Amino acid sequence: MCGIVGLIGDRVKVGDLIEALEKLEYRGYDSAGVAFLKNHELNITKSKGKVESLKNQLQDRLNELIQIGIAHTRWATHGEPNDINAHPHSDCSCKISVVHNGIIENFRTLKIRLQELGHKFLSQTDTEVIPHLIEEYYNGDLLEAVRKAVLKLEGSYAIAVVHADHPDIIVGARKGSPMVVGVNGQTIGLASDITPLLKFTKEVVFLEDGELVELSKGTVKIIGFDGVARKHHPVFVEWSYEDAQKSGYKHFMLKEIFEEPSCIVSVLTGRIKSGHVVLEEFKPFEKNLANSKAIKVIACGTSYHAALVFKYLLENTTDITADVDVSSEFRYKKPHLKPESIVVAISQSGETADTLESVRLAKRCGAKIIAVTNVVGSTLTREADCVLYLNAGPEISVAATKSYVAQLVMLYLLALKIGEILSNSIVQNSELIDRLMRIPEIFENSLKSVDKIHELAKKYKDYKHFMYIGRGYGYPTALEGALKLKEISYIHATGYPAGELKHGPIAMLGPEFPVFAIAPGDSLSPKMKSNIIECKSRNAKILALTNYDNQEIAELADDVIFVNNSNEELYPLLMTPAIQLFAYFVADELGLDPDKPRNLAKSVTVE
Ligand code: M6R
Repeated sequence: MCGIVGLIGDRVKVGDLIEALEKLEYRGYDSAGVAFLKNHELNITKSKGKVESLKNQLQDRLNELIQIGIAHTRWATHGEPNDINAHPHSDCSCKISVVHNGIIENFRTLKIRLQELGHKFLSQTDTEVIPHLIEEYYNGDLLEAVRKAVLKLEGSYAIAVVHADHPDIIVGARKGSPMVVGVNGQTIGLASDITPLLKFTKEVVFLEDGELVELSKGTVKIIGFDGVARKHHPVFVEWSYEDAQKSGYKHFMLKEIFEEPSCIVSVLTGRIKSGHVVLEEFKPFEKNLANSKAIKVIACGTSYHAALVFKYLLENTTDITADVDVSSEFRYKKPHLKPESIVVAISQSGETADTLESVRLAKRCGAKIIAVTNVVGSTLTREADCVLYLNAGPEISVAATKSYVAQLVMLYLLALKIGEILSNSIVQNSELIDRLMRIPEIFENSLKSVDKIHELAKKYKDYKHFMYIGRGYGYPTALEGALKLKEISYIHATGYPAGELKHGPIAMLGPEFPVFAIAPGDSLSPKMKSNIIECKSRNAKILALTNYDNQEIAELADDVIFVNNSNEELYPLLMTPAIQLFAYFVADELGLDPDKPRNLAKSVTVE
């Protein structure tokens, strides 16, 4: 999705704006632009394509000190990606400049009215109405003009505004799209997320919906859309600037996969005491759980696959049922929730529009929302009744990797806790807890297969199709494996429950259509074995992911990736690095950039 940034301070350079945009690239975009004030003159440069091309245009100016600046990465929603539609957008006097993340739903009506008043529009964007509206209301006070303008806007937005006559002010506003304000630094600023601000300050304020901020050198003033002053206490961010860098890895995706063992440690830290799971945040909802005996789970994409693992875990180990829905479906369905219902909303970013709308729907039914997310201060955290933070650190690559692993660990803890609360867990909690504690070390071991997986990626990279199959706990892993491969390598991949093959998809299999079998030595292993034999008899190549003791599967397969032996509940966790690394190396071998897959965005903040 779009990314916005604004910087103000005595030492801000043009290059700082570009560097800030580079930090936002992971969000996905198709054009970029900057507006900055120097000697009271507004300079605007925009470019279709990568930040790199914008940087090339500004090459001679990168070291120039500026008064203030705003910048933007655009992910097109209204009007094709080109130089004209790229942000910033300006008013008729070319004194006001605006960058925007989100969608202005009533822009057509506003545009007609503004055109009747004589305003001239240059782009096809919804955003361009904003500078013209501000121009209409401007009477010497920029903050007040922006306040009056946002009252006319319908939709979702985070905006940053500068005016040539106010070389020491940046104004921001937020409704429905995230905005973080970096405070207490020599340079302060605002941005769509924390990463571009970390170089300047670690103290941030998360603007709420319906708030405006005015940044001038050293001071930050926040008011509501009603004009009344609002107070905020800055939050100290633990993430370091270096955390958001590649640390010598070729891509963020690879770095983030190798961070998985430490992420698991972070999730587990303080969560297990004397053999029991500590999830104090969940305590107020224990009664709801006992009454409803069911949990609703909502999520999108990779988070949805984590939700499916949670479902298998909960339903196989307790007598609670877990009903899992993709958020974009749930939000338009009859919710069937009651005031005692518990809804678990899983979202790495905490900003996924469909998940947020589903949460709002559930809240209208009185349900209690448990958020599982990685981003402190994200919209989801502010709307939920309880937040289980993943503490996985910033995930820059568009493909979710370490956040998925962290989600799984948190959901294991939650399932164990639920079993403990209801005293009806049918698995030996202590054994599972023991194994969970040893997972980081076992994970390190799984990551040692990296060279083998790289070799396999070279061997399989030219196939045009892949079928990922699994059963039971292996099924969500098959779905996630297929998603990872298709989203970064653009190879067609389908995830299927292995038992469903003969109800249709087996018709596609043949020498050109390999099968990636998620086949741990669990209770369903004999069934998987039969499914693999069925695929082999259609001459499909078999790449199997199994554990060391499962020689039967290994003998059937053309190629094998092994993981450590474990109990069946933990295989989804143990098998994850292999499916991620396979997808990563295939994409890399095909010469693609796994960190920035085409057409995708890190935070899907629009429907
Ligand atoms: O931030 P969220 O977890 O809510 O994001 C959900 C999906 O958009 C996300 O998992 C997406 O599928 C990724 N591309 C997966 O790698």
